[in-house]
Parts: sequence; C-alpha cells; structure tokens
Amino acid sequence: MTLNKLDELSPHPVMLAPMVGLTHYAVRGSLAEFLPEGAKVLWATEMLNSRRIPSQKQHENPEIYFYDAANGLCPQLLANEEEFIRMSVPRLEAWGAAAIDINMGCPVKKALKHNYGVALMGDPDYAAQVVRMTASRAKVPISVKLRASGIPKEGETHDFDYLLNFIHGLVEAGASWITLHPRSAEQKRKGSADWSLIARLKKELKIPIIGNGDVEVASDIDAMAEESGCDRVMVGRALMAKPWLLRHTPGSLEPIPNAFEQHELYGQFLKGVAKRMKEVYPLDAGMRRMRFLIVYSRPYVEFGEYLYGRVMASNTYEELEAALEKFFATKQKILDRTSMRV
Ligand SMILES: Cc1cc2nc3c(=O)[nH]c(=O)nc-3n(C[C@H](O)[C@H](O)[C@H](O)COP(=O)(O)O)c2cc1C
Repeated sequence: MTLNKLDELSPHPVMLAPMVGLTHYAVRGSLAEFLPEGAKVLWATEMLNSRRIPSQKQHENPEIYFYDAANGLCPQLLANEEEFIRMSVPRLEAWGAAAIDINMGCPVKKALKHNYGVALMGDPDYAAQVVRMTASRAKVPISVKLRASGIPKEGETHDFDYLLNFIHGLVEAGASWITLHPRSAEQKRKGSADWSLIARLKKELKIPIIGNGDVEVASDIDAMAEESGCDRVMVGRALMAKPWLLRHTPGSLEPIPNAFEQHELYGQFLKGVAKRMKEVYPLDAGMRRMRFLIVYSRPYVEFGEYLYGRVMASNTYEELEAALEKFFATKQKILDRTSMRV
C-alpha cells in the first residue's frame, strides 16, 4: 500500500490548529516537548497573507520565524490572486515549508472584503482555481482548511452536497487533504462543531480528512476519531491550556493527568513558551503574544484572571519568568470543560 502524503509527513494522530497570534514559533516549540518520542507531525502556522509575503523580511516578522522548519511546517496561506500566489509559494518553500495549507475558513470581515478565507467557499470554480494555481507553483503538497458552509448568496443553499461538490473541485485541482472545521461561516466559533459532517465526508472521499472543532478533553479526541473516522484530530484552543492533549492517541489507555498534574504541565508549557520568546522575539512582540496566549488558556485555569494580571504587570522577560515561577509554585487545577471559551 502506498502512503498518502499526510501519512508520510504527519503520521502522528493529533495536530495543532492554525491560529493567528497563537501558533507561532515559541508555542510550536514548547508544544513539541509534549509529543511522544520520535513522533512526526506537521505544524501549522497562523494564516499568512499572500499579499504581504513577497515583501516581508523573515527576521522582521515574528509570524514567519520558521526557525523550527526542520520539524515539518505547514504554513497557511490566505490567498486568491495569482500574482501573489506565484510570488509567495517559492518563498514559503525556501523558508522551509513541508506542505502549504490554503485558508478557506476565515470568516472575519477583512477576509470577506478581499474575497479570500471563507469567501472562497461561495465560488467553487474560483476556489478550485486557487488550489490549482498554488499546486502548480509548489513542490510540496497543498491542503485546504474549510468550514461546513460559506456565506450563501441569494437563492443558494450551502448544504452537504454543496460542500461535497466544493471539495471534489479542490481535490481535482490538486488538494492532497482537507481539514474540516464543521461550523458555518456565520457561526464563527459560536454554537458547536457538527462532527457528523466529518463522518459524512469521510464516507464520500478517498483523500485524508482532518477533523477539527471543540475538542476539550482526551475523550473528545477518542470520540471524534471514532464517530467520524477522521484521519487526524486537529486541536486549537484547548491545546493552549492542555498541551499534553497533543500526545493523546485516540483510544489509548494511557492514564490522563489529573487536574493538578495538568496545571503543572500547563506551567511547563508556558515557561517553555517564555524561554523561546526570549530567544527570538523583541520584548513587545513576545509579551503581546504571551498575553494573548493567556487570554485563550485562562478559561480553563483556576485563578486564570490572577495569572493574566501578573503577566500584564510584567514589563521584562525576567519579570514574566518570575511571575510564572510564582504562580505555578502553588498547586491548582485545570478545568475539564468551560463555557467561557473565546
Ligand atoms: C485566536 C484564533 C485564531 C485563529 N486563526 C486561524 C487561522 O489563522 N487559520 C485558520 O484556519 N483557523 C484559525 N482559527 C480557527 C482554528 O484553527 C480552529 O478551526 C477553531 O478554533 C476550532 O477548533 P478548536 O475548537 O479546537 O479551537 C483561529 C482560532 C482562534 C481561536
């Protein structure tokens, strides 16, 4: 049996989701310490704007520090114009991309205005064309991350058949795998992800499908894998507080860390992030990212507001490290689930 490209590049069952302001060099590096020995996984970057890449200088832009490229980076491209794709793809490859993902799921106004992100889901032919343009320029595999539905124009219905047809077009154009975050564009991150759509796609398509959305605990990884049959489980927000989820293999009987142990692991993760920030980020850029990371993890953290306050009050990396040491010296708990997620 020949391996598909995802199996070759990323055999580990759980992956980090692309997240603006969160999936940067320091977070990827610190999370990597939680992988089982020898595990191989593709690491997402946050979405990178193809209009900016051609004029960006790597060392001046924290989001494109690809110092960890040797571990297998999958930068995510926000793109729709041939000229920018043509210029961006070779740069990403030269910086070390092992695969390139195209964003067809971002629902923010700015992306819609420029007709990329989830806007592409409204134009199946053009979306396929974007994949074709990217794949024809790339030596590495191309994937697409998308939602259950885009923003239907008058008279259109973005139902499952629409999604399936849309993906058929992408595959024909050269997409090697798909990540589905099964929420509509309108939902943004509200409501819940409908994993049954991942299962339906899995039944209809031969390419690998990565499932994403609303994993909060280890048993969610088991459930998503079992209910949907997805090839990989992608986790975003919860990994920011529960880095150890990355090593949870679906169905594994390995013991789950208790709430206190999870808190310690969270501390280990944040300290690892702070250490790596110091290596590469100017103070402003690093502290901004650290605060943002706490905003996304604090809903799971007992006394998360207090931690946030201590980090906000830190003006140097040394103060940040001291604040983390102090906070994590006390035994506290990580919560299983939260309704306070952002
Ligand atoms: C702060 C933030 C930034 C995000 N940025 C991106 C992005 O750049 N590209 C993308 O495809 N999805 C982005 N997402 C969506 C996530 O990749 C993921 O689909 C979503 O959070 C659902 O997964 P989760 O429930 O595991 O967090 C972002 C999510 C968050 C919270």
